[in-house]
Amino acid sequence: MSRLVVVSNRVAPMRPGGGTGAEGGLAVAMQRALRDRGGVWFGWSGKTLPSDSGDASIVEIGPVSYATVDLSQQDHDEYYTGFANSVLWPLFHNRIDLTDFTRRDMAGYLRVNAMFAGRLLPLLQRNDVLWIHDYHFIPLGESLRRAGCRQKMGFFLHVPWPPMEILLALPNHVSLVKQLCTYDLIGFQTEADKHSFLEYIRQEAGGEVLPSGRIRAFGMSPIVKSFPISIDTAEVAELSRRAEKGAQSKRLKKSLMKRQLVTGVDRLDYTKGLIQRLESYQHLLSNYPAFRGRVTLLQIAPPSRSDLADYQRIRHQVETIAGHINGTFAEFDWSPVRYLNRGFKRQTLMGFLRASNVGLVTPLRDGMNLVAKEFVAAQDPEDPGVLVLSRFAGAARELESALLVNPYDIEGVGDTLAKALTMPIEERRERWAAMFKHLQRYDLVYWRDTYMGALEAAPCGAAAA
Ligand code: ADP
Ligand code: F6P
Repeated sequence: MSRLVVVSNRVAPMRPGGGTGAEGGLAVAMQRALRDRGGVWFGWSGKTLPSDSGDASIVEIGPVSYATVDLSQQDHDEYYTGFANSVLWPLFHNRIDLTDFTRRDMAGYLRVNAMFAGRLLPLLQRNDVLWIHDYHFIPLGESLRRAGCRQKMGFFLHVPWPPMEILLALPNHVSLVKQLCTYDLIGFQTEADKHSFLEYIRQEAGGEVLPSGRIRAFGMSPIVKSFPISIDTAEVAELSRRAEKGAQSKRLKKSLMKRQLVTGVDRLDYTKGLIQRLESYQHLLSNYPAFRGRVTLLQIAPPSRSDLADYQRIRHQVETIAGHINGTFAEFDWSPVRYLNRGFKRQTLMGFLRASNVGLVTPLRDGMNLVAKEFVAAQDPEDPGVLVLSRFAGAARELESALLVNPYDIEGVGDTLAKALTMPIEERRERWAAMFKHLQRYDLVYWRDTYMGALEAAPCGAAAA
């Protein structure tokens, strides 16, 4: 078997007891995917220095070598805060209004990608297979090829691919798509994302979509396919079972005093629909007074990308509305909202999900949303909670037995919450069983193995077909 080299901006070495809570879906998934197979995980160290630091530093933990590079302040500002998170992130989540394109940041993004390629190249062995992740590294493949890399290279996008009309708002859309076509395999989360990409290839790039799953564009011919990312279903189920007997879950249950629990877990990000979610909860309390004093919303939201003004703004807005709901409805012995800005150990978090009557997952746009899948896997089969899920999360394409909602329809989500909180046990079990069965089959190992299988079978070099 060839050695696997994973490249992603965040590199998160596995810690005993699970993550820190600040990782996000990519890191949680890759920790597990690499643990079994071993290999190299290459990316940013998370450190920003006044100037560039030179070669990658390497740490071996079990079967995985973690190779990381520091960023200079300028690189961090232009590549990570700038082009990746002030242009590509909002644009790919359909928020053209929040994009802040500058040529300086675009140049920084390309420069850092070329720098990462230069640091990675000396670490590569002839038979390695490279799996490159997410919007931070779209041009990395081209930089590697230019520097002489001949190894097979696949790319997987964890966030949505935008509809063509939205992508056209990006001044460098042509070169970005051309850079993406350098990979031998391009993976998207959903069929819908793949179709948006193919629409661009046909209509804007003058390319061709071949029946084999390959495309022909810009003189290259990569394979394009969807691979919905998933979770380690069995592990989450086991963690949540163990957590149920643990001190934290017991404390949580005791503190609820038999009230029903609705839980949301999201990075504090404007794509997650937190404002609309809180407004929907407010609608529930206003229009269904029977729930007052009988339900608690636990919203866990660790801060993310706090350097950016849009993230500071959403944090302030969420604090304001959570405070407003508590101010309006709280009693001396009941707070309707418990709002926490912190991470938890994985097992503790899975225990919280198991203790919840409702998982409220209502992003405005999300590539997949692993929390939705974790919520299902964490439930007690005898007494499962109900998943209320945004139709705009990639996960909605698979978890069809959830209560699917439009997060912009505040009153509709509030009414659905009432339905979820009063759903009879038979219906809860039936809906849960269908989703759990799906997640048992389509788990993280399935995702990794189907992606790696397709990459290993792909012709190398993206030469024109
Ligand atoms: P994103 O990748 O946009 O952050 P996902 O829902 O796909 O969203 O993935 C988030 C991952 O991070 C999940 O595995 C979730 O369990 C984990 N996570 C999120 N918040 C916390 C937290 N407060 N503590 C621990 N883990 C967290
Ligand atoms: O899953 C989407 C994603 O953007 C990942 O690429 C990223 O690691 C995660 O969210 C958390 O974001 P950040 O790395 O910017 O903290």
